Amino acid sequence: VNKGNGVKGLSETGIKALPDQYIQPFEERLINKFVNETDEAIPIIDMSNPDEDKVAEAVCDAAERWGFFQVINHGVPLEVLDNVKAATHRFFNLPVEEKNKYTRENSLSRNVRFGTSFSPRAEKALEWKDYLSLFFVSEDEAEQYWPDVCKNEALEYMNKSKKMVRKLLEYLGKNLNVKELDETKKSLFMGSVRINLNYYPICPNPDLTVGVGRHSDVSSLTILLQDQIGGLHVRSLTSGNWVHVPPVPGSFVINIGDAMQILSNGRYKSVEHRVLANGSNNRISVPIFVNPKPESVIGPLPEVVANGEEPVYRDVVYSDYVRYFFKKAHDGKKTVDFAK
Ligand code: SIN
Ligand code: FE2
Repeated sequence: VNKGNGVKGLSETGIKALPDQYIQPFEERLINKFVNETDEAIPIIDMSNPDEDKVAEAVCDAAERWGFFQVINHGVPLEVLDNVKAATHRFFNLPVEEKNKYTRENSLSRNVRFGTSFSPRAEKALEWKDYLSLFFVSEDEAEQYWPDVCKNEALEYMNKSKKMVRKLLEYLGKNLNVKELDETKKSLFMGSVRINLNYYPICPNPDLTVGVGRHSDVSSLTILLQDQIGGLHVRSLTSGNWVHVPPVPGSFVINIGDAMQILSNGRYKSVEHRVLANGSNNRISVPIFVNPKPESVIGPLPEVVANGEEPVYRDVVYSDYVRYFFKKAHDGKKTVDFAK
C-alpha cells in the first residue's frame, strides 16, 4: 500500500486498522500500566532571569536529575519557531514524488534523507513516524541539496538557536570545571549538527504502536521544538514513571544525550524517552541534535577525572558510536554500553 509515502501516506488512505508490522510488543506500548498520573514534571527554566548563576544552576541540576528540561524566554525569536514548523508541514505535504527525491536511494546528498520509522531493517516492529533528516555540512551544501520548501527556515532555526546552545553548553561545562569552550571543547560539545523534521500522522490504533520507541539520544545536547499536540514521554530517574512533557508555547525541550553523559563521566544523564502515537491529530517536532564532530574521540573529560574520579566509560570514536546506535533497533538505553 502506498509504497514510498511513509506512514503519512498510509494514514491518508483512511485505513481503519493498524498494519501488523506496526504492532509493538505489549511492553513497548505507552498506554499501559507504566503511564501513571503523576505529579512529577520536568523543570521549566526561564533563561531571561537576570541572575545568570541561578539559570546555570537550574540547568545543571536538571541535567543531573532529569536529563531533560524546557526553556522559555530563550532569546530565539518566536517567528523563527513558527516558520520552521510551517516549513515542516510544507515538506510533508509535498506530493510523494517530490519527497521521494530524498530517500536513501534517490537523494543527491548523503546528508539529506527522507525516511520512515527508525531503522526499518533492524526493527521487529515499525514506528509510526516519517522524517526528513538534514546533516549540516555548510551553507553552500544546504543551499544546493536541502529541499527548497524548508531549507531557509531550517537554516535560520539552526543559526538563531546557536547562541542559546552555546550558553547551555557553557553552563554545563563550567559545572564540570571546563573553564571555557575552546576549540577542543567546541568540537566535543558542538562539533556537528543534525536537524530532523518529524511527522507523526494520525494513527488508526495508537495504543498498539509508538511514534518513537524507547531510546536515549546519541547527541551531546538535543534542542526539540514540538507543536501543541503532545505525546513525548520521559522516564523519570527517581520513580521510573513515564512522565509527559506538556507542550509549552514558545519553549524548547532540551535533553542531554549519550555523548554528554560520557563526557561528564555519568554526571549528566541521557534519559530514555519515547513518543505516543495519536489517534486524532497529526503531530510534528523539529529536533536539532548538537553532536561531537564525527571523528572526535569522546570519553570522560580530563577536567572531570582530574579530581580522582574513576572513568566509567572508555574512549570511543564518535562516528563508531553513532554507527552502533543505528545498527540496532530502538531498545532503551543500551547504546551507552558500547562505551563501557
Ligand atoms: C525523538 O526523541 O526521537 C522524538 C521526540 C519528539 O518527537 O518529541
Ligand atoms: Fe530522542
